[in-house]
Amino acid sequence: MRSLISQYLSEIDRFTTQSADELEQFRIRYLSKKGLIPALFEDFKNVPPEQRREIGQALNDLKNKAQEKVTLLREQIEAGTSEQKGETDLTLPVDYLQLGSRHPLSIVREEIIRIFARIGFVVAEGPEIEDDWHNFTALNFQPDHPARDMQDTFFIESNPDILLRTHTSSVQIRAMETRKPPLREIYPGRVFRNEAISARAHCIFHQVEGLYVDHDVSFADLKQTLYYFAHEMFGEGTEVRFRPSYFPFTEPSAEMDVTCFVCGGKGCPICKYSGWVEILGCGMVDPSVPENCGINSNEYTGFAFGMGIERITMLKFRIQDIRLFFENDVRFLKQFTGAV
Ligand code: DAH
Repeated sequence: MRSLISQYLSEIDRFTTQSADELEQFRIRYLSKKGLIPALFEDFKNVPPEQRREIGQALNDLKNKAQEKVTLLREQIEAGTSEQKGETDLTLPVDYLQLGSRHPLSIVREEIIRIFARIGFVVAEGPEIEDDWHNFTALNFQPDHPARDMQDTFFIESNPDILLRTHTSSVQIRAMETRKPPLREIYPGRVFRNEAISARAHCIFHQVEGLYVDHDVSFADLKQTLYYFAHEMFGEGTEVRFRPSYFPFTEPSAEMDVTCFVCGGKGCPICKYSGWVEILGCGMVDPSVPENCGINSNEYTGFAFGMGIERITMLKFRIQDIRLFFENDVRFLKQFTGAV
């Protein structure tokens, strides 16, 4: 008798169902007049008097457990069917809306835009699908120029070439073709390169380009503008340095480094113990570029710069792998709200 009671107890404990029919079978099996529990009560007569107290108690517990189970499952099944019928129980707590968060690349892009907006730069955009002229030729990448190899991309059509733009510098051309100086603009956007995806490189990434064309724009203007940007973006004590570089559409060209904002210039793994991190490319607009767009380069000069948003975001938030930006894993994405 004892072993039957404990066997039924554990069966009842484990039992669950969402079907009303199965629940009814369960009830009949254990609780109906000819069910297993009444049968035990029947046998109870034969229990020796000294065990009656204990076994009687256990039998009553068993019966209660079975009845509770039936009541509980019946409630659950009824709640489920009334929900399906649209009869929502208005007394239940609400499902809270899960608020999303801004993508770290958007946070940094908007910060960059805000900083330049404060000194009069306006935002403009260009197409992601470009022709050869705007992406390469008008920027002085001649057809066999080696710099084209560094910006291999995805071609949509060839001869004439239509391709995914490799940089936002193409928007400079569109701006100078359609608007006349003074131009003080930035161009945020998505760019593409035919590169193997790794922790440091991706075939899709984002840039912000800047262009300033007016009378008498000099390298001093370029330096002061980017110095201001570095201070606003990375903090007051940030220093900048310019290293000579080469881009076909600027002359002279430079790359700008800022003092490592992780170690303050002392040297750490982020800056590879140099104290400096590279942030952007820049230079004075090569006179042939505005000429290609119908702007008189004797009258106007300008500077331009371009930076990678992923790179700045990775440095700022110490993100080790560029692929995380594109995986849409909310556990990653939700860490950056309110970070800037
Ligand atoms: N377009 C260059 C690149 O993607 C970045 C760049 C460098 C843009 C110098 C500029 C510039 O406007 O002046 O590598």
